[in-house]
Amino acid sequence: LFGLPEQAAHERVLLATDPATGLKAILAVHSTARGPAFGGCRLWHYESEAAALNDALRLSQGMSLKNALADLPFGGGKAVILKPEGAFDRPALFAAFGRAVQSLNGAYITAEDVGTTTADMRGMQAVTPYVSGIPREGAFGGDPSPKTAWGVFVSIQAGARLVLGRSSLDGVRVALQGLGAVGWHLAEFLHQAGAKLVVADVDAAKVERAVAQFGATAVSVADILAVDVDVLAPCALGASLNEQTVPTLRAKLIAGAANNQLATPADGDALQRRGICYLPDYLVNAGGIISVAREYRNEGEEKAVMAEVSKIAERVEELLQRVQAADSTPARVADDWARSKLVRLA
Ligand code: NAI
Repeated sequence: LFGLPEQAAHERVLLATDPATGLKAILAVHSTARGPAFGGCRLWHYESEAAALNDALRLSQGMSLKNALADLPFGGGKAVILKPEGAFDRPALFAAFGRAVQSLNGAYITAEDVGTTTADMRGMQAVTPYVSGIPREGAFGGDPSPKTAWGVFVSIQAGARLVLGRSSLDGVRVALQGLGAVGWHLAEFLHQAGAKLVVADVDAAKVERAVAQFGATAVSVADILAVDVDVLAPCALGASLNEQTVPTLRAKLIAGAANNQLATPADGDALQRRGICYLPDYLVNAGGIISVAREYRNEGEEKAVMAEVSKIAERVEELLQRVQAADSTPARVADDWARSKLVRLA
C-alpha cells in the first residue's frame, strides 16, 4: 500500500471531514503499545488524497520509532490536514480538527508540525484536552522547534567527533536545506559553534537573513544537497535522500530535522555504500516531541528538558557502536533498536 514497508501496521486511521469548515484530515494512530499515540499535525497542500494518506502513515510510524527510542511513555501517531483551496476560516478549521482528535478519546495527542502554529494548538484547547505545544504564562511549554534544533545540533557535534574526527564544530562546513522554524535555530547554534554554513530555502528572504546574520553562503535549492561540505542537515521536507540525490552527495555525515529523509530503506543502504554516515531522522529530531511530551505531562522545566534533549548525543554514540557490532547501516540498526522498544510499558 503506497510503498509502505511490509511491517507497517497501523492500529487505527481516521478520515475526518467537516464540509462546513472545509476540513479534510487523516489521523493515523500507528501504535499505542507504549502509551497514547503522540505526534504533530501537519497542514499541507497535497497533490492527492493518496499522497496525504501516505504521508500520515509514514509519519505516524516514524513517531512510534521516535518516541520509543527517546524512551517516552507514548506511542506513535500523526495527523495531516489537507489544506483547503483558497481562503478558509483557520480557527474554525482547527476547532473541527480538534473535535476529530477528541473523537479518538485520547488514543491520539496532537501538537505542532509543518504548517501549524502554537495559536492553532491553543485554539483547539476549547474542544479537546489532547493537545500540546502551547505556551503558558510562567510555565514550560510552547514551540518545540528550538528543542528539536538543539537535538540535531548535539547529534551533529557527536557525529562530527565520531565520524569526522572533529573535536569541535569550529570550521566544519554544514549545508542546511531549509531555514524554517527548526533550520533557523539550528543555524544559530551552528554559527555560535563556529561552523561555516551553506544554506538554501525556497523563501529568498530567509536566505538573505542567514547570509547577513551568519555569514552563510547561499546556494539554490537545486544545488544544496550536492554542495561540497562535511555535514548535510536536511531541515525541509521528507524523501530528500533518494535514488536521484544520493549519488550526488558530497557530505560525509547527514543529520537533520526533516522527518522521513530516506525515500526508501534502500537509499540508506546506498548511503552506506558511498561511505556516508546517515544519522536517522527520528533519532536526532526527537527534541521537539520530548519537549511537548514533558509539557503534556506537566513535567516540564526548561533546564531539565534541555538536559534530556542533550542525551540524544549519547544515543547517537550508542547507535554508532551498535552499527559497528552489527556490520549494518545506521538506519537499519536504529529501526531494529526502536522496534525492540515497541512494547507495553509496565
Ligand atoms: P518549517 O515549515 O518552519 O520550515 C521548513 C522550511 O523549509 C521553510 O522555510 C521552507 O520554505 C523550506 N523549504 C521547503 N521546501 C524546500 C526545499 N525544497 N529546499 C529548501 N528549503 C525548502 O518547518 P519546521 O518546523 O522547521 O520543520 C522542518 C522539518 O523538520 C519538517 O520535516 C518537520 O516535519 C521536521 N520536524 C520538525 C519539528 C519541530 O519541532 N518543528 C520536530 C521534528 C521534526
